[in-house]
Amino acid sequence: MSGHGERRTMTARKGGPLRGEAEIPGDKSVSHRSLILGALAVGETRIEGLLEGQDVLDTAKAMRAFGAEVERTGPGSWLVRGVGVGGFAEPSDVIDCGNSGTGVRLIMGAMATSPVTATFTGDASLRSRPMGRVTEPLALFGARAVGRAGGRLPLTLVGARDPLPVEYRSPVPSAQVKSAVLLAGLNAPGITTLIEAEPTRDHTERMLRGFGAEVEAEVTEAGRVIRLVGQPELRPLSISVPRDPSSAAFPVCAALMTEGSDVLVPGIGLNPTRAGLYFTLREMGADLAFENEREEGGEPMADLRARFSPSMRGIETPPERAASMIDEFPILAALAACAEGKTVMRGVKELRVKESDRINAMARGLEAMGVRVEETEDSLTVHGMGPGGVPGGGMAAARLDHRIAMSFLCLGLAAKAPVSVDDASPIDTSFPNFVPLMRALGAALEG
Ligand code: S3P
Repeated sequence: MSGHGERRTMTARKGGPLRGEAEIPGDKSVSHRSLILGALAVGETRIEGLLEGQDVLDTAKAMRAFGAEVERTGPGSWLVRGVGVGGFAEPSDVIDCGNSGTGVRLIMGAMATSPVTATFTGDASLRSRPMGRVTEPLALFGARAVGRAGGRLPLTLVGARDPLPVEYRSPVPSAQVKSAVLLAGLNAPGITTLIEAEPTRDHTERMLRGFGAEVEAEVTEAGRVIRLVGQPELRPLSISVPRDPSSAAFPVCAALMTEGSDVLVPGIGLNPTRAGLYFTLREMGADLAFENEREEGGEPMADLRARFSPSMRGIETPPERAASMIDEFPILAALAACAEGKTVMRGVKELRVKESDRINAMARGLEAMGVRVEETEDSLTVHGMGPGGVPGGGMAAARLDHRIAMSFLCLGLAAKAPVSVDDASPIDTSFPNFVPLMRALGAALEG
């Protein structure tokens, strides 16, 4: 089974300041979509800056299994020769998506309206995550899924032979559900409509348009209504993947909480559906500047400069902001422990079904570091201890979750006593150069 390498414990301790420039790898969401849409186009799609983390490599392998040619031509440079919408071949073996919820859910959508059958699995984290949120709307197109209790992996999906277009209102604020429905809609005749109550990341819609599909989005009383015209011929594209704002969040927050730090993180994608953390940090009083703001490949982008911020205050993040910073709550929780006063994160129930139950994982880990927290089903409260005030000196369980591991390693750089994580190997799924990059900035990471 693919997934992570050897289990490895790591420890972070207070050292000098973090200083210098950090080259963040490509955006994970955009990387998955580049490979999948490239595989559904007719002809050669070229991708630059692809994230070469395990999650994305598993998606590349899956696209080969469905018949696309996927080739690495250099570091971050990839070529995909697609089979066209409806052209997927039947994989001859089980598709192993490792740790990736985005990978498996988008691929299930992409194959659901083709007459092929595939069985999906993943690591222990992915096998515990709910898939019904995707297989239910895919059933409306005519696909059939048989999985374990609660729709969990391993799961076999039988694609629809005569797919129907669908109108679906997503019950959860999830870009993965939205994307699975839109990708399935590609091979259904007529118009597929997806309605989301709250806007979630819109990379799929943007990229579908780039590949030549007709996609319209409209904000109505009911929410955001997205309409896709089915059975387009997708034209291959040249894609430059922006750097991942969710990965940038780690060196940025580490710099804000570590005395004397000054870190520049160039070329970060600041799509408004992803940028909630950065606005939150400014509200907290972080010394964070957006330099050289520009647009590249249709995505807003800037160089971020983060300096040690000793006077950050706790705040409340409102539920309507949760989707735009959903992956950043673990590092925000770590940072909040170093601010003055309490931080309340509201409307964050979706964190319970990520790579781990992130509310619980952060709450237990912070407690082990001497921080007071409160959780409800839908919220997390962290009582800040001020700059340099977190005791540390504990071991946090990473629970096969890259963002939990990175959050505690960042916290260890600012805590009084070292912070350990029991397994840092999941970091390779999204940010393979995290450890060398942080060390180059001056972080004392051991293990
Ligand atoms: C992602 C969507 C989010 C996010 C994940 C990436 C995507 O998940 O947490 O890391 O690329 O569509 P949900 O759609 O389940 O919120």
